[in-house]
Amino acid sequence: MAKSSPFIYGNTVSNIAFTNREIELDKLMSNLLGGVNTMIISPRRWGKSSLVEKVVTAINRKEKRNKTIVIDLFSVSNEQQFLETFTREVIKASSNRWQEWLGSGALFFKKLIPKINVGIDPLTDFSIGFDWKELKKHSEEVLNLPEVIAKKKGIKFIICLDEFQNIASFDDYLNFEKKMRSVWQRQKLVTYCLYGSKRHMMTDIFNNPSKPFYRFGDIMLLPKIQKEKWIGFVVKSFKESGKTISAGDAAFIPEVMKNHSWYVQQLSHYTWNLTSKTAGLLQIKAALNELIQANSPLYQKEVESISVTQLNLLKAVAVGEHQFTSTAVMQIYALGTPRNVSKNKTILINNDIIQNIDGVYEFVDPAFELWFKKQFFNQSY
Ligand SMILES: Nc1ncnc2c1ncn2[C@@H]1O[C@H](COP(=O)(O)OP(=O)(O)O)[C@@H](O)[C@H]1O
Ligand SMILES: [Mg+2]
Repeated sequence: MAKSSPFIYGNTVSNIAFTNREIELDKLMSNLLGGVNTMIISPRRWGKSSLVEKVVTAINRKEKRNKTIVIDLFSVSNEQQFLETFTREVIKASSNRWQEWLGSGALFFKKLIPKINVGIDPLTDFSIGFDWKELKKHSEEVLNLPEVIAKKKGIKFIICLDEFQNIASFDDYLNFEKKMRSVWQRQKLVTYCLYGSKRHMMTDIFNNPSKPFYRFGDIMLLPKIQKEKWIGFVVKSFKESGKTISAGDAAFIPEVMKNHSWYVQQLSHYTWNLTSKTAGLLQIKAALNELIQANSPLYQKEVESISVTQLNLLKAVAVGEHQFTSTAVMQIYALGTPRNVSKNKTILINNDIIQNIDGVYEFVDPAFELWFKKQFFNQSY
């Protein structure tokens, strides 16, 4: 039977297609089991959600007293939705028996009266609602729910909130942020893992001494997986699926993708598909072409969504300029005034198009960069 590609992208990976991260796995595992709140920050698609999923799976397998919860805040848009989702997930994790969930309202709440709904299949169709006015007034009762349940049942909770920076878009966020912090920091039986992709927002939430979440716990800046590790992973994955690639050729994949997790997997996948027995540079180059073609509508749209001076600034970044406000650079690239430059820089950073790594500006997305250089400077890849 023909094997299918061993490379996975698009979803989180935590099992077969997962590689490396030994140090981060150990650290996160011991933090979460040891009650140390942990924040993880990296640009998107480097591997935060996968890392957390792997740790949570391992904890679920061996730690029956630690109940884990993972909530993705990507599609949670306000405080009410957050608190209702939080309540539902905490109650679901507190017991394996859905019949027990139904009684939890009377058992664990003093001020709030939750409206509980169950469908035909309670495991997938279970929701909790509150009257918004009451909820707003007594939100600390929800925020403290895991601690209350943990105490009563002799268990602990590990609560992981993905894309945590989304909370900053809630109405009245500043008050809510204060309340969360003041309730959560007193909890002894609940540990939080808060992670997100918007580096500037995450750092502002957790690393700003005037903000409530300052020093809430350990901050982990998740690095990229190194080239050598990727080469080993690609070679091994080809071999185990009945094809081959040499280490020398495989090296081209992480190199051209700058060790970006998602793109290394995607380019490996395309290469694998184009290979009948042995992959070489020919297949990798064809795969790269295919990958960039497939993504180009997206890149086109991205370019169309920014202003002319922002596009010009992006060109300067692509060429490797550093002194954007030097007179020569501003003239060559038509960047406008120094104020334009600084405003546009912020916009490109906030939109996750460029990032500042140790004082140097670079594209966040390595494949977009290749496409961009071809498009505007006719550089081949
Ligand atoms: N440890 C890993 N080993 C191999 N591939 C990984 C790893 N972590 C992430 N990836 C690849 O990167 C993609 C994005 O990972 P994800 O965990 O969703 O990133 P993030 O949460 O930071 O946006 C995954 O679909 C997978 O292809
Ligand atoms: Mg993620």
